[in-house]
Amino acid sequence: MNKYALITGASRGIGRAIAERLSQDGYTVIINYKNNKQAALQCQQAIEAAGGQAELLPFDVTDGAAIEAALTAWDATHEGEHISVLVNNAGIRRDGLMVFMDENDWHEVLRTTTEGFYYTTHHVLSGMLRARQGRIVNITSISGVSGLPGQANYSAAKAALIGATKALSKEVAARKVTVNAVAPGFIATDMTADLDEAELKKTIPAGRFGKPEEVAALVSFLCSDEAAYITGQVIAIAGGMG
Ligand SMILES: NC(=O)c1ccc[n+]([C@@H]2O[C@H](COP(=O)([O-])OP(=O)(O)OC[C@H]3O[C@@H](n4cnc5c(N)ncnc54)[C@H](OP(=O)(O)O)[C@@H]3O)[C@@H](O)[C@H]2O)c1
Repeated sequence: MNKYALITGASRGIGRAIAERLSQDGYTVIINYKNNKQAALQCQQAIEAAGGQAELLPFDVTDGAAIEAALTAWDATHEGEHISVLVNNAGIRRDGLMVFMDENDWHEVLRTTTEGFYYTTHHVLSGMLRARQGRIVNITSISGVSGLPGQANYSAAKAALIGATKALSKEVAARKVTVNAVAPGFIATDMTADLDEAELKKTIPAGRFGKPEEVAALVSFLCSDEAAYITGQVIAIAGGMG
């Protein structure tokens, strides 16, 4: 029987690296994305070229009805199987100082992270509880741990995700489902492409941005059997920041 891992926002960046890594770990990967089908197909092709298996499952993580429809259709075509790993990775940033922050930038950032967590987890969790086995990894941020100026919306969203991680971990631990959060610092992806890397590097003790593959390696460990006793934790991967 296949082991399935659903990664939201897996068409690019950290999500794609996690998808490739979990494929190497033996999972059939379900690649979620919102708009960028071409990037999602490239991720799928890279996984298949390396001998792995991957499926595409597009939906907007803020659209509860679309998620329910997509995951119900997935359940129908995978009878007797369930998703045993969920990585809530999809996220956006719309930075700005609070005094100038647009209402939409507040709501969109909060919705993508918090509703993304709610809708996807709410559907996938029941299969994990029935199977008495599962791994949920939420991609938060060092910004949600320490707060960063210009990111009141993003820090609030990522801090909310940490609260949800801790609460849910206590609800489901007895059913052998672990729930952890990974908090990256600056990682080189499209999301950080517009930042002044040379200047920001000076604020990072390790003196460099992290790589998506480094985050993926941590997620891989948290999804492994060896991590069965780690739950409700926030693990920073930030080159010493925070
Ligand atoms: N990069 C960093 O420095 C950093 C640091 C800390 C935390 N993080 C967090 O790590 C996660 C991944 O970041 P990244 O840097 O890899 O971002 P990225 O390169 O911008 O990629 C974002 C991914 O999320 C998807 N996505 C965005 N909104 C979505 C929605 N509403 N529904 C479904 N998918 C959606 C995108 O899909 P499309 O391709 O279809 O647009 C894409 O696959 C985010 O949660 C981010 O907050 C990143």
